[in-house]
Amino acid sequence: MSLVSGPGRGGVAAGLPQELSLYMDKHVSYIQSLDRRKDEREYWLTEHLRLSGLYWGLTALHLLGHPDALPRSQVIEFVLSCLHENGGFGAAPGHDSHMLYTVSGVQILATLDAFDELEARVQGGRLKIGQLVDIAGLQDAETGTFAGDEWGERDTRFLYGAFNALSLLGLLHLINVDKAVGHIQSCANFDGGYGTSPGAESHSGQVFTCLAALTIAGRLDLVDQDKLGAWLSERQLKNGGLNGRPEKKEDVCYSWWVFSSLAMLNKQHWIDGDKLANFILQCQDPQMGGFSDRPGDMVDVFHTCFGLAGLSLLKFPGLIEVDAVYCMPRAVTKRCLSK
Ligand code: FPP
Ligand code: ZN
Repeated sequence: MSLVSGPGRGGVAAGLPQELSLYMDKHVSYIQSLDRRKDEREYWLTEHLRLSGLYWGLTALHLLGHPDALPRSQVIEFVLSCLHENGGFGAAPGHDSHMLYTVSGVQILATLDAFDELEARVQGGRLKIGQLVDIAGLQDAETGTFAGDEWGERDTRFLYGAFNALSLLGLLHLINVDKAVGHIQSCANFDGGYGTSPGAESHSGQVFTCLAALTIAGRLDLVDQDKLGAWLSERQLKNGGLNGRPEKKEDVCYSWWVFSSLAMLNKQHWIDGDKLANFILQCQDPQMGGFSDRPGDMVDVFHTCFGLAGLSLLKFPGLIEVDAVYCMPRAVTKRCLSK
């Protein structure tokens, strides 16, 4: 079909072998098919991830240039059915609220330009969601870090989640940004990377969350950029794929966590982009669509989102531009952040 986009038309991916194509139409139908699989065991086993799954699928469809491939009103209906009285979102109706699903809920509403619907249909509107961090007190007043929910562990993922969601909603003033920035600094390691908490091993996922939060705060000046750039560039293995830490296997999702971090530091050229694009393309299922973590494994919507987002950052032909800080279409973040 004509939606299949071949490489070799400029951008970083210009040097790829001709036979590796991006199966755009297959990926669109794969994502559309996910919601029709309610009779399958897999669908119910992943219920605890549902709202994030919707964010991954919707983001992938937008990057593929098919923003209307899921019915907008049904998606909004589902998202609002996951909203709790405390302002947080759960993974699915009836599930407890948590920061990770709250970010996904806000990202979906932002992508669908549905904040007006939120204001019209939910008492308190955007501020209600701000309540989750405000009233439930997810930010630790002492250290500046964040918990995922009222009871849970603290982790830089939740700190980034608060920065992501609140900045999209225009509510960053609800938290103590300086304290949070101080906490990120205390998570920096001798190798230039960041971990989940002070003293924890550097991990590319956590590097992404810390760099993205510092970018939102406008404090990238605090980062040892050359040292971290070197550590990130060492994540590329011979086959072109990226790993999350030394001695680990390559994985398509790290095409996002690592490469978006390099993009925030303006050091995309510190790895071989052609080899990375080539590795990501090998992780597609050419028949059913979708991407897996590495070639030959089962595809899933998480790796489909981050594989496509990685290709978009590599300026792969045919894909919509992604924002390295939010993992959302750049046009969406421009619209939200300019308000
Ligand atoms: C690796 O996870 C990735 C991370 C630790 C970062 C996750 C970030 C979030 C969930 C915040 C929301 C993100 C966006 C883009 C909105 P893993 O558990 O797969 O690590 P492993 O490879 O070590 O198992
Ligand atoms: Zn992965």
